[in-house]
Amino acid sequence: MKFSRRNWLRSASTMTASGLFVNAGISKFYENSHTPKTGEIILNSNENAWGPSPNVLKAIQQSSLQSNRYPWQTRQILIDRISQLEGIPADHILLGAGSTEILQLAGLAFGAHGGTIVSSYPTFPLMMQHATGFNAKWIKVDLDRNFNHDFEALKKAAQNAQLIYISNPNNPLGTLSDKSTLLDFCRSLPSTTIAFIDEAYMEFTDQGLKSSLAKEILSYPNLIVARTFSKIYGMAGLRVGYAYAHPDLIEKMKHYHIGFEINMPITSLHAAIAATEDQQFLQDCKQANSSVRNKVGRSFTDWKVEYVPSQTNFIYFRTERFDPALVELLAKHQVLIRDYADQPGYARVSMGTEEQIDIFLSKAKSFLA
Ligand SMILES: Cc1ncc(COP(=O)(O)O)c(C=O)c1O
Repeated sequence: MKFSRRNWLRSASTMTASGLFVNAGISKFYENSHTPKTGEIILNSNENAWGPSPNVLKAIQQSSLQSNRYPWQTRQILIDRISQLEGIPADHILLGAGSTEILQLAGLAFGAHGGTIVSSYPTFPLMMQHATGFNAKWIKVDLDRNFNHDFEALKKAAQNAQLIYISNPNNPLGTLSDKSTLLDFCRSLPSTTIAFIDEAYMEFTDQGLKSSLAKEILSYPNLIVARTFSKIYGMAGLRVGYAYAHPDLIEKMKHYHIGFEINMPITSLHAAIAATEDQQFLQDCKQANSSVRNKVGRSFTDWKVEYVPSQTNFIYFRTERFDPALVELLAKHQVLIRDYADQPGYARVSMGTEEQIDIFLSKAKSFLA
Protein backbone atom coordinates (compact mmCIF):
# COMPACT_ATOMS: atom_id res chain seq x y z
CA MET A 1 0.00 0.00 0.00
CA LYS A 2 1.57 3.27 -1.08
CA PHE A 3 0.65 5.61 1.73
CA SER A 4 2.78 8.73 1.80
CA ARG A 5 3.03 10.84 4.89
CA ARG A 6 3.19 14.02 2.82
CA ASN A 7 -0.10 13.19 1.14
CA TRP A 8 -1.84 12.41 4.39
CA LEU A 9 -0.90 15.81 5.73
CA ARG A 10 -2.00 17.49 2.55
CA SER A 11 -5.35 15.70 2.69
CA ALA A 12 -5.98 16.87 6.22
CA SER A 13 -5.07 20.50 5.54
CA THR A 14 -7.11 20.62 2.31
CA MET A 15 -10.13 19.62 4.29
CA THR A 16 -9.65 22.38 6.83
CA ALA A 17 -8.97 25.00 4.18
CA SER A 18 -12.06 24.13 2.16
CA GLY A 19 -14.21 24.88 5.19
CA LEU A 20 -15.74 21.45 5.53
CA PHE A 21 -15.65 21.65 9.30
CA VAL A 22 -19.06 23.13 9.76
CA ASN A 23 -21.06 22.14 12.80
CA ALA A 24 -24.46 21.22 11.43
CA GLY A 25 -26.21 21.66 14.77
CA ILE A 26 -28.26 19.22 16.82
CA SER A 27 -31.75 18.24 15.73
CA LYS A 28 -34.46 16.71 17.90
CA PHE A 29 -33.97 13.44 16.10
CA TYR A 30 -30.29 13.54 16.96
CA GLU A 31 -30.95 14.00 20.67
CA ASN A 32 -33.28 11.01 20.70
CA SER A 33 -30.61 8.55 19.56
CA HIS A 34 -29.23 6.11 22.10
CA THR A 35 -26.30 3.85 22.78
CA PRO A 36 -26.67 0.05 22.50
CA LYS A 37 -28.09 -1.69 25.56
CA THR A 38 -24.97 -3.74 26.19
CA GLY A 39 -23.15 -0.51 26.98
CA GLU A 40 -20.70 -1.00 24.14
CA ILE A 41 -20.19 1.83 21.73
CA ILE A 42 -20.12 0.09 18.39
CA LEU A 43 -18.05 2.10 15.93
CA ASN A 44 -16.56 -0.79 13.97
CA SER A 45 -19.17 -1.82 11.39
CA ASN A 46 -20.24 1.39 9.62
CA GLU A 47 -23.78 1.03 10.88
CA ASN A 48 -26.20 3.90 11.29
CA ALA A 49 -26.49 4.82 14.97
CA TRP A 50 -29.69 6.82 14.38
CA GLY A 51 -31.67 4.26 12.46
CA PRO A 52 -34.11 3.05 11.56
CA SER A 53 -36.88 5.53 10.91
CA PRO A 54 -39.97 5.23 13.19
CA ASN A 55 -41.92 4.39 9.99
CA VAL A 56 -39.83 1.26 9.67
CA LEU A 57 -40.56 0.10 13.20
CA LYS A 58 -44.27 0.59 12.62
CA ALA A 59 -44.15 -1.34 9.34
CA ILE A 60 -42.34 -4.26 11.01
CA GLN A 61 -44.94 -4.44 13.72
CA GLN A 62 -47.86 -4.28 11.30
CA SER A 63 -46.41 -6.71 8.77
CA SER A 64 -45.50 -9.26 11.44
CA LEU A 65 -49.16 -10.31 11.21
CA GLN A 66 -48.42 -11.57 7.68
CA SER A 67 -45.60 -13.82 8.89
CA ASN A 68 -47.51 -16.95 7.80
CA ARG A 69 -47.34 -15.81 4.13
CA TYR A 70 -44.53 -16.08 1.59
CA PRO A 71 -43.45 -12.61 0.53
CA TRP A 72 -43.99 -12.91 -3.26
CA GLN A 73 -46.13 -9.83 -3.62
CA THR A 74 -44.26 -7.73 -1.08
CA ARG A 75 -41.03 -8.39 -2.94
CA GLN A 76 -42.58 -7.01 -6.10
CA ILE A 77 -43.99 -3.97 -4.29
CA LEU A 78 -40.49 -3.11 -3.06
CA ILE A 79 -38.98 -3.61 -6.52
CA ASP A 80 -41.65 -1.34 -8.02
CA ARG A 81 -41.03 1.25 -5.30
CA ILE A 82 -37.26 1.28 -5.96
CA SER A 83 -37.97 1.45 -9.69
CA GLN A 84 -40.22 4.46 -9.19
CA LEU A 85 -37.74 6.25 -6.90
CA GLU A 86 -34.87 6.07 -9.34
CA GLY A 87 -36.71 5.88 -12.67
CA ILE A 88 -35.20 2.51 -13.58
CA PRO A 89 -37.44 -0.27 -14.97
CA ALA A 90 -38.37 -3.01 -12.51
CA ASP A 91 -36.83 -5.76 -14.66
CA HIS A 92 -33.43 -4.04 -14.15
CA ILE A 93 -33.61 -4.53 -10.36
CA LEU A 94 -32.46 -7.53 -8.31
CA LEU A 95 -33.19 -7.74 -4.58
CA GLY A 96 -30.79 -9.40 -2.17
CA ALA A 97 -30.60 -10.30 1.51
CA GLY A 98 -28.40 -7.25 2.09
CA SER A 99 -26.06 -6.18 -0.68
CA THR A 100 -23.91 -9.03 0.66
CA GLU A 101 -26.09 -11.44 -1.29
CA ILE A 102 -25.71 -9.34 -4.43
CA LEU A 103 -21.92 -9.49 -3.95
CA GLN A 104 -22.13 -13.25 -3.49
CA LEU A 105 -24.21 -13.80 -6.64
CA ALA A 106 -22.06 -11.53 -8.82
CA GLY A 107 -18.83 -13.02 -7.51
CA LEU A 108 -20.07 -16.51 -8.33
CA ALA A 109 -21.68 -15.62 -11.68
CA PHE A 110 -18.58 -13.91 -13.05
CA GLY A 111 -15.73 -15.18 -10.90
CA ALA A 112 -16.35 -18.83 -9.98
CA HIS A 113 -14.84 -21.64 -12.05
CA GLY A 114 -11.66 -19.84 -12.99
CA GLY A 115 -12.91 -16.30 -13.64
CA THR A 116 -10.79 -13.29 -12.74
CA ILE A 117 -11.97 -10.43 -10.51
CA VAL A 118 -9.94 -7.23 -10.25
CA SER A 119 -10.27 -4.75 -7.40
CA SER A 120 -8.37 -1.94 -5.76
CA TYR A 121 -6.71 -2.69 -2.45
CA PRO A 122 -7.58 -1.86 0.28
CA THR A 123 -11.28 -2.14 -0.42
CA PHE A 124 -14.32 -4.05 0.87
CA PRO A 125 -13.08 -7.58 0.14
CA LEU A 126 -16.16 -9.73 0.72
CA MET A 127 -17.05 -10.60 -2.88
CA MET A 128 -13.50 -11.55 -3.78
CA GLN A 129 -12.83 -13.49 -0.58
CA HIS A 130 -15.95 -15.55 -1.22
CA ALA A 131 -15.43 -16.06 -4.95
CA THR A 132 -11.82 -17.21 -4.51
CA GLY A 133 -13.26 -20.08 -2.46
CA PHE A 134 -14.99 -21.11 -5.71
CA ASN A 135 -11.85 -20.99 -7.81
CA ALA A 136 -11.94 -17.34 -8.86
CA LYS A 137 -8.69 -15.45 -9.26
CA TRP A 138 -8.41 -12.08 -7.47
CA ILE A 139 -6.06 -9.42 -8.78
CA LYS A 140 -5.44 -6.58 -6.29
CA VAL A 141 -4.38 -3.15 -7.54
CA ASP A 142 -2.82 -0.58 -5.17
CA LEU A 143 -4.64 2.69 -4.60
CA ASP A 144 -2.93 5.81 -5.92
CA ARG A 145 -0.92 8.19 -3.72
CA ASN A 146 -4.05 10.04 -2.66
CA PHE A 147 -5.89 6.86 -1.65
CA ASN A 148 -8.14 6.94 -4.71
CA HIS A 149 -8.72 4.15 -7.21
CA ASP A 150 -5.85 4.05 -9.72
CA PHE A 151 -7.95 3.77 -12.87
CA GLU A 152 -5.01 3.42 -15.27
CA ALA A 153 -3.60 0.50 -13.29
CA LEU A 154 -7.06 -1.03 -12.88
CA LYS A 155 -7.66 -0.79 -16.63
CA LYS A 156 -4.44 -2.65 -17.37
CA ALA A 157 -5.25 -5.34 -14.81
CA ALA A 158 -8.81 -5.72 -16.12
CA GLN A 159 -7.90 -6.66 -19.69
CA ASN A 160 -8.61 -10.36 -19.17
CA ALA A 161 -10.91 -10.07 -16.18
CA GLN A 162 -14.55 -11.12 -16.07
CA LEU A 163 -15.43 -8.53 -13.42
CA ILE A 164 -13.96 -5.45 -11.83
CA TYR A 165 -15.20 -4.52 -8.36
CA ILE A 166 -15.20 -0.84 -7.39
CA SER A 167 -16.42 0.29 -3.99
CA ASN A 168 -17.51 3.90 -4.50
CA PRO A 169 -17.17 5.47 -1.99
CA ASN A 170 -14.42 3.06 -1.09
CA ASN A 171 -14.60 1.21 2.22
CA PRO A 172 -12.38 1.54 4.31
CA LEU A 173 -10.89 4.78 2.92
CA GLY A 174 -14.08 6.83 2.57
CA THR A 175 -12.98 8.38 -0.73
CA LEU A 176 -15.40 9.06 -3.59
CA SER A 177 -14.44 8.80 -7.26
CA ASP A 178 -15.72 11.44 -9.62
CA LYS A 179 -18.74 10.23 -11.61
CA SER A 180 -17.46 11.11 -15.10
CA THR A 181 -14.01 9.62 -14.41
CA LEU A 182 -15.62 6.42 -13.24
CA LEU A 183 -17.96 6.29 -16.22
CA ASP A 184 -15.10 6.88 -18.67
CA PHE A 185 -13.25 4.08 -16.95
CA CYS A 186 -16.22 1.70 -17.28
CA ARG A 187 -16.57 2.57 -20.95
CA SER A 188 -12.88 1.88 -21.54
CA LEU A 189 -13.17 -1.71 -20.32
CA PRO A 190 -13.25 -4.64 -22.75
CA SER A 191 -16.81 -5.57 -23.78
CA THR A 192 -16.37 -8.87 -21.92
CA THR A 193 -15.61 -7.24 -18.55
CA ILE A 194 -18.38 -6.41 -16.10
CA ALA A 195 -17.98 -3.27 -13.96
CA PHE A 196 -19.51 -3.79 -10.52
CA ILE A 197 -19.94 -0.52 -8.61
CA ASP A 198 -20.74 -0.97 -4.92
CA GLU A 199 -22.53 2.19 -3.77
CA ALA A 200 -23.30 1.08 -0.20
CA TYR A 201 -22.41 4.55 1.18
CA MET A 202 -23.42 6.75 -1.76
CA GLU A 203 -26.29 8.47 0.06
CA PHE A 204 -23.86 9.91 2.64
CA THR A 205 -21.75 11.74 0.04
CA ASP A 206 -21.92 15.51 -0.49
CA GLN A 207 -23.83 15.16 -3.77
CA GLY A 208 -25.76 12.09 -2.63
CA LEU A 209 -27.24 9.98 -5.41
CA LYS A 210 -26.23 12.61 -8.01
CA SER A 211 -22.81 10.91 -7.90
CA SER A 212 -24.37 7.50 -8.55
CA LEU A 213 -23.90 5.49 -11.73
CA ALA A 214 -27.26 3.75 -11.34
CA LYS A 215 -28.98 5.34 -14.34
CA GLU A 216 -26.00 4.48 -16.55
CA ILE A 217 -26.99 0.80 -16.51
CA LEU A 218 -29.67 1.77 -19.06
CA SER A 219 -27.05 2.66 -21.67
CA TYR A 220 -24.17 0.47 -20.51
CA PRO A 221 -25.07 -3.24 -20.44
CA ASN A 222 -21.88 -4.31 -18.65
CA LEU A 223 -22.57 -2.34 -15.51
CA ILE A 224 -23.96 -3.51 -12.15
CA VAL A 225 -24.66 -0.98 -9.40
CA ALA A 226 -25.31 -2.31 -5.88
CA ARG A 227 -27.02 -0.45 -3.03
CA THR A 228 -28.24 -1.31 0.44
CA PHE A 229 -30.77 -0.42 3.10
CA SER A 230 -28.12 -1.17 5.75
CA LYS A 231 -26.33 2.16 5.85
CA ILE A 232 -28.17 5.49 5.44
CA TYR A 233 -31.52 3.76 6.05
CA GLY A 234 -30.20 2.30 9.33
CA MET A 235 -31.51 -1.19 8.61
CA ALA A 236 -28.40 -3.40 8.73
CA GLY A 237 -30.19 -5.97 10.89
CA LEU A 238 -33.08 -6.29 8.42
CA ARG A 239 -30.91 -7.45 5.49
CA VAL A 240 -32.21 -5.74 2.37
CA GLY A 241 -30.02 -4.79 -0.57
CA TYR A 242 -30.49 -4.45 -4.30
CA ALA A 243 -28.71 -4.11 -7.60
CA TYR A 244 -29.41 -2.31 -10.85
CA ALA A 245 -28.28 -4.09 -14.00
CA HIS A 246 -29.35 -5.14 -17.49
CA PRO A 247 -31.84 -8.06 -17.28
CA ASP A 248 -29.29 -10.36 -18.97
CA LEU A 249 -26.81 -9.76 -16.15
CA ILE A 250 -29.55 -10.20 -13.56
CA GLU A 251 -30.40 -13.55 -15.13
CA LYS A 252 -26.76 -14.65 -14.84
CA MET A 253 -26.65 -13.67 -11.17
CA LYS A 254 -29.99 -15.35 -10.43
CA HIS A 255 -28.56 -18.58 -11.79
CA TYR A 256 -26.63 -18.86 -8.50
CA HIS A 257 -29.68 -18.11 -6.40
CA ILE A 258 -31.39 -21.06 -4.71
CA GLY A 259 -34.66 -19.97 -6.32
CA PHE A 260 -38.03 -18.45 -5.45
CA GLU A 261 -36.31 -15.19 -4.43
CA ILE A 262 -38.14 -15.20 -1.15
CA ASN A 263 -35.15 -15.28 1.16
CA MET A 264 -36.01 -11.96 2.80
CA PRO A 265 -38.48 -11.79 5.68
CA ILE A 266 -41.82 -10.20 4.82
CA THR A 267 -41.20 -7.77 7.72
CA SER A 268 -37.89 -6.61 6.20
CA LEU A 269 -39.50 -6.02 2.81
CA HIS A 270 -42.30 -3.98 4.36
CA ALA A 271 -39.71 -2.14 6.44
CA ALA A 272 -37.78 -1.20 3.30
CA ILE A 273 -40.93 0.03 1.56
CA ALA A 274 -41.76 2.18 4.59
CA ALA A 275 -38.17 3.44 4.77
CA THR A 276 -38.33 4.83 1.23
CA GLU A 277 -41.34 6.87 2.31
CA ASP A 278 -39.39 8.77 4.97
CA GLN A 279 -36.90 10.80 2.94
CA GLN A 280 -36.63 13.36 5.78
CA PHE A 281 -35.06 10.67 7.93
CA LEU A 282 -32.32 10.18 5.33
CA GLN A 283 -31.63 13.92 5.28
CA ASP A 284 -31.43 14.00 9.08
CA CYS A 285 -29.03 11.04 9.13
CA LYS A 286 -26.85 12.62 6.49
CA GLN A 287 -26.69 15.89 8.41
CA ALA A 288 -26.05 14.26 11.79
CA ASN A 289 -23.39 12.07 10.21
CA SER A 290 -21.51 14.94 8.61
CA SER A 291 -21.70 16.91 11.85
CA VAL A 292 -19.96 14.17 13.87
CA ARG A 293 -17.59 13.39 11.00
CA ASN A 294 -16.47 17.03 11.01
CA LYS A 295 -16.05 16.90 14.78
CA VAL A 296 -13.78 13.84 14.55
CA GLY A 297 -11.85 15.52 11.72
CA ARG A 298 -11.33 18.66 13.81
CA SER A 299 -9.99 16.66 16.76
CA PHE A 300 -7.71 14.57 14.53
CA THR A 301 -6.35 17.76 12.95
CA ASP A 302 -5.76 19.31 16.41
CA TRP A 303 -3.96 16.15 17.52
CA LYS A 304 -1.98 15.96 14.25
CA VAL A 305 -3.51 12.56 13.54
CA GLU A 306 -3.40 11.95 9.80
CA TYR A 307 -6.67 10.80 8.24
CA VAL A 308 -8.32 10.47 4.87
CA PRO A 309 -11.11 13.05 4.34
CA SER A 310 -14.26 10.96 4.13
CA GLN A 311 -17.51 11.18 2.19
CA THR A 312 -19.02 8.37 4.24
CA ASN A 313 -19.99 7.37 7.77
CA PHE A 314 -16.46 6.30 8.71
CA ILE A 315 -12.95 7.75 8.85
CA TYR A 316 -9.70 5.91 8.12
CA PHE A 317 -6.76 7.23 10.08
CA ARG A 318 -3.17 6.64 10.95
CA THR A 319 -2.60 5.37 14.49
CA GLU A 320 1.06 6.33 15.00
CA ARG A 321 0.22 9.30 17.26
CA PHE A 322 -1.54 6.95 19.68
CA ASP A 323 -0.47 4.17 22.02
CA PRO A 324 0.26 1.16 19.73
CA ALA A 325 -2.51 -0.76 21.52
CA LEU A 326 -5.15 1.93 20.73
CA VAL A 327 -7.80 -0.44 19.37
CA GLU A 328 -7.48 -2.89 22.28
CA LEU A 329 -7.38 -0.09 24.86
CA LEU A 330 -10.53 1.47 23.44
CA ALA A 331 -12.23 -1.95 23.44
CA LYS A 332 -11.39 -2.32 27.14
CA HIS A 333 -13.29 0.92 27.61
CA GLN A 334 -16.28 -0.44 25.64
CA VAL A 335 -15.50 1.59 22.50
CA LEU A 336 -15.16 -0.66 19.46
CA ILE A 337 -13.32 0.54 16.36
CA ARG A 338 -11.74 -1.46 13.56
CA ASP A 339 -8.20 -2.25 12.54
CA TYR A 340 -6.83 -4.53 9.82
CA ALA A 341 -4.21 -7.26 10.07
CA ASP A 342 -2.85 -6.36 6.64
CA GLN A 343 -2.86 -2.58 7.19
CA PRO A 344 -0.72 -2.09 10.30
CA GLY A 345 -0.64 1.48 11.59
CA TYR A 346 -4.16 2.33 10.38
CA ALA A 347 -7.63 2.05 11.83
CA ARG A 348 -11.18 2.97 10.90
CA VAL A 349 -13.77 4.54 13.15
CA SER A 350 -17.44 4.53 12.18
CA MET A 351 -19.58 7.53 13.03
CA GLY A 352 -22.05 7.32 15.89
CA THR A 353 -24.29 9.67 17.82
CA GLU A 354 -22.66 12.82 19.14
CA GLU A 355 -22.66 11.31 22.63
CA GLN A 356 -20.88 8.17 21.37
CA ILE A 357 -18.37 10.18 19.35
CA ASP A 358 -17.63 12.42 22.34
CA ILE A 359 -16.81 9.31 24.38
CA PHE A 360 -14.65 7.94 21.56
CA LEU A 361 -12.80 11.25 21.27
CA SER A 362 -12.20 11.64 25.00
CA LYS A 363 -10.92 8.05 25.32
CA ALA A 364 -8.81 8.31 22.16
CA LYS A 365 -7.30 11.58 23.43
CA SER A 366 -6.25 9.84 26.62
CA PHE A 367 -4.33 7.31 24.51
CA LEU A 368 -2.33 9.86 22.54
CA ALA A 369 1.33 8.86 22.82
C1 LIG B 1 -18.77 -1.42 0.65
C2 LIG B 1 -19.75 -2.35 1.25
N1 LIG B 1 -20.55 -3.08 0.46
C3 LIG B 1 -21.44 -3.94 0.95
C4 LIG B 1 -21.58 -4.12 2.31
C5 LIG B 1 -22.56 -5.15 2.79
O1 LIG B 1 -23.63 -4.53 3.37
P1 LIG B 1 -25.08 -5.22 3.51
O2 LIG B 1 -24.95 -6.66 3.18
O3 LIG B 1 -25.47 -4.99 4.91
O4 LIG B 1 -25.94 -4.51 2.52
C6 LIG B 1 -20.78 -3.39 3.20
C7 LIG B 1 -20.93 -3.57 4.65
O5 LIG B 1 -20.28 -2.99 5.47
C8 LIG B 1 -19.85 -2.48 2.65
O6 LIG B 1 -19.04 -1.76 3.44
